[in-house]
Amino acid sequence: MFTDKQLFAAPLAGITDKPFRRLIRSFSPKSPILTEMISCHSLVEGHKNCLRNFDRYEDEGLIGAQIFGASPTLMAESAKILQDLGAKWIDINMGCPVPKVATKAGAGAFLMQDHKLACKIMGQVVKAVNIPVSIKTRLGWDEKSKNWQDLVKIAVDCGISFVTLHGRTRAQLYNGPAQMPEKPDLPIPIIANGDIKTSSDIEKVQNLGYDGAMIGRALFGKPWLIGCLLGSCKEPDNIGELVLKHLNYAIEYYGEKTAVPMFRKHAAWYSAGLPNSAGFRIKVNQINNANDLKMAICEFWGCELD
Ligand SMILES: Cc1cc2nc3c(=O)[nH]c(=O)nc-3n(C[C@H](O)[C@H](O)[C@H](O)COP(=O)(O)O)c2cc1C
Repeated sequence: MFTDKQLFAAPLAGITDKPFRRLIRSFSPKSPILTEMISCHSLVEGHKNCLRNFDRYEDEGLIGAQIFGASPTLMAESAKILQDLGAKWIDINMGCPVPKVATKAGAGAFLMQDHKLACKIMGQVVKAVNIPVSIKTRLGWDEKSKNWQDLVKIAVDCGISFVTLHGRTRAQLYNGPAQMPEKPDLPIPIIANGDIKTSSDIEKVQNLGYDGAMIGRALFGKPWLIGCLLGSCKEPDNIGELVLKHLNYAIEYYGEKTAVPMFRKHAAWYSAGLPNSAGFRIKVNQINNANDLKMAICEFWGCELD
């Protein structure tokens, strides 16, 4: 899975869904992409809609499924289900800071505090599948407990193939600049994550010794970014056409009633920084049908309706 200058697309719940991943993939055919996190409970219990987070289109390529939960048995079972559905690797979420996951469910970032449980989960998941298993974690719970290296050492013993390290603590959530420490001598690849947006950000983490980089929020409104950073494409000339394509994928997938309000955030990100974007956002937020949304997009970017 590791080539020179490997760039991963981060899991982003509510954003890196099938329509958005399809666009990312169209610009970067080979880069690894992670799905939005999937609850092991929901998956094993067969909850409606849960499998949507791992709904692939044909030829999606190098796609990994991210799971979260606190039960080693259910985590192992869900990893197996996702392997059978075509995941190329399994990623275990050990960094999600939201209270519903990290405190109430004892999953995500909580596992940075309970290495015994983390070890059981990693061991059982690795045993359950024959594809690589990675973990995605943070520096530690808070400033006083930056214990990620201890967790990585346990991960190595459990047979984990690589680790993604988000350069913030759980207490920091997504605030303040990410700070990547120099990569210590560790026997598995470590992927750097947090505030990586440009070639020079990538160069910085490479110089710190990291084996690759994972890009998250910089993809908002820029599905081409990884492709551009890899040199396999340039920023599209006609963003309006791309926005329409994304909207059409979303309507095809979710249906108009769900897709139109869901698309407002994407419309805001695509238009950010352009002249009159504030007016465009206000307009889009009041639109409830696909045709009006398409017309607003065409008017804003000056493109033709297909
Ligand atoms: C809206 C949103 C959803 C996220 N969803 C997930 C997720 O499902 N799983 C996960 O491991 N991290 C998730 N993250 C964290 C990102 O993957 C990433 O670690 C974080 O945003 C830092 O990287 P960045 O600065 O490049 O965005 C999410 C972050 C945001 C902002």
